[in-house]
Amino acid sequence: MTKKLYIETVGCQMNVLDSELVIGQLRSTGFSVTDDPARADVVLLNTCSVRQHAEDKVLSRLGALKKPKLHNPDMVIGVIGCMAERDPDGLVAKMPHVDLICGPGELNKVPALIAEIRETRSRAIALSHDMSRRSTPLARALEHDSVEALDRSRFHALDDHMLQAYVRVQRGCDKFCTFCVVPYTRGAEYSRPAAAVLAEAASLARDGVLEITFLGQNVNTYRGKADNGDDWGLARLIGEAAKIDGIERIRYTTSYPAEVDDDLIAAHGSVEKLMPFIHLPVQSGSAKILKAMNRRHDADDYRRLVEKLRAARSDIALSSDFIVGFPGETDDDFKATLSLVEEIGFAHSYSFKYSPRPGTPAAALDGQVEDALKSARLAELQALLDRQQLAFNLACQGRVMAVLFERRGRRPGQLVGRSPYMQPVHASLTDDFLGTITEMRITDGFANSLHGVARKNTPETERLTA
Ligand code: SAH
Ligand code: F3S
Repeated sequence: MTKKLYIETVGCQMNVLDSELVIGQLRSTGFSVTDDPARADVVLLNTCSVRQHAEDKVLSRLGALKKPKLHNPDMVIGVIGCMAERDPDGLVAKMPHVDLICGPGELNKVPALIAEIRETRSRAIALSHDMSRRSTPLARALEHDSVEALDRSRFHALDDHMLQAYVRVQRGCDKFCTFCVVPYTRGAEYSRPAAAVLAEAASLARDGVLEITFLGQNVNTYRGKADNGDDWGLARLIGEAAKIDGIERIRYTTSYPAEVDDDLIAAHGSVEKLMPFIHLPVQSGSAKILKAMNRRHDADDYRRLVEKLRAARSDIALSSDFIVGFPGETDDDFKATLSLVEEIGFAHSYSFKYSPRPGTPAAALDGQVEDALKSARLAELQALLDRQQLAFNLACQGRVMAVLFERRGRRPGQLVGRSPYMQPVHASLTDDFLGTITEMRITDGFANSLHGVARKNTPETERLTA
C-alpha cells in the first residue's frame, strides 16, 4: 500500500514551488497525496515567518493535529520552511508532537528525514544555519549543490496538465530590510547556473507548460554562471528563455527596486513574451521611513524607475507591497505613501500592518505604532488600492487581450484564464479552449476579475502553440 502525504502551504510563491517539489520527491519514493490529514502517514506544513499572523495560523493547525497523532502515533508531523529555520527550539517547546523540522534550504533532505524518523522513532532536524557554520569554499559548494538538488527533483513533480510553472532562479536575500525575517530564514543570495534554469524551462515546455515565472526573493539580483563562465543577469536569462519553443509567456517575481537595471527595463520593450506586468514592492512613500527600512531607494527613485519602465513599454502595469505602521511612521509619512499611490496608479497590491519579527532591527526601534492606528491606516490605504484596481479593470473593457485558459469555472460552460496582467478572465467557452492562449475582447471589468468573449469561435485558429 502506498503511504499517504498531506501537505499544507502558507506564504509566498517560493513556498508554493517548494511544496510542489517536495510532493514530487515524495511521490517518487512511493507516496500519494491525500486531502485528509487524519488519514495521512506524513503531514507537512510548509510555513511562513514574514508576519506573526502567518506563524499563528500554523501553530493553530499544529495544535489541531495533536488528536489525530494520538490516534495514530506512527503519523509523522513535519514543519518545513521558514518557521522551522527561524525558531526550531521555540517550535518544539510549544509543539512537542512535531517529528520533523526542516528549513527551506534543506528540503531535498525531507525523504531521508522521514525514513530516519520511522526507523529511530525520534525527531529529525535539518537546518541551513547549522550547515552554513561550515564556511570553507568546499562546504559552500556542497551546500549549493544540495539546494540545487530540490529543483532538479522537479521531474517527478509535474501534474499532467500543468500550464503555468514556477522556476527558481535565485534564492535567499542579502538586503536586510530592517523589518524582514527572510534573510535569516532563507539565507544568503545564491543564483542557479543559467544552463540549469534554461534546461528546466525547456523540459517544462516539452511537458506542455506555456507560461513560466522566474522566482527569487530578489529575482533581479540574479547573477548566474553561463557555461562559458560569463555572469548572466536576469535580462539575459529572460532573453534566452524566450527562445524556447513552447514557452509563450514569461514573468518574474519579486523584484528589488534599487537593483532593476537598464537591461531589464530594455527587456520589457524588446522581449514580446515577457508579460507587461511587474511586481515592484515600494513598501512606503516616505523617504524617512524607506531609509529606516534600509530599502536603498526613496520615493523619487521609485517614480523615476516607473517612468523608465513605462517608457520602455507603455502598457506595463505595476503591483506592489506596502507596510503601514512601521516604527516612527507619522501621519505625514503615511500621507506620503497615499500620494505616491495616487501618483503611480497600481493595478494590484498587497498591503500589511507592520509585524515586529524577533531578531530583526526594526522590532527593537522606538516609536512602535499602536495597533488601532495601524488598522486605520491599512483600511485607508486598502480602500485607495481597491479603487485603483477597479479602475484598472474597468479600463480593460473594450481591449483585446491574450488569455491563457487554465481551468473550468464554477458555472457549466465557463472557463477561467489569466490576462497578461494576471487578472482572472471568465468566459463562456467550450473545453476546446482549455490550454490555449486566446485573443479575447474584454466586455466587463469587476473588482477582482474580467469577463470576455472570444474574438473568433474556432479554437484551431486561435491556438498559438504548434
Ligand atoms: N522579496 C521578498 C519579500 C518577502 S516578504 C519576496 O517576495 O520573496 C513579502 C512582503 O511582506 C514584503 O514585500 C513586505 O511588504 C511584507 N513584509 C515583510 N516583513 C514584514 C513585516 N515584518 N511586517 C509586515 N509586512 C512585512
Ligand atoms: Fe525581505 Fe527586503 Fe529581502 S523585504 S526578502 S529583506 S529585499
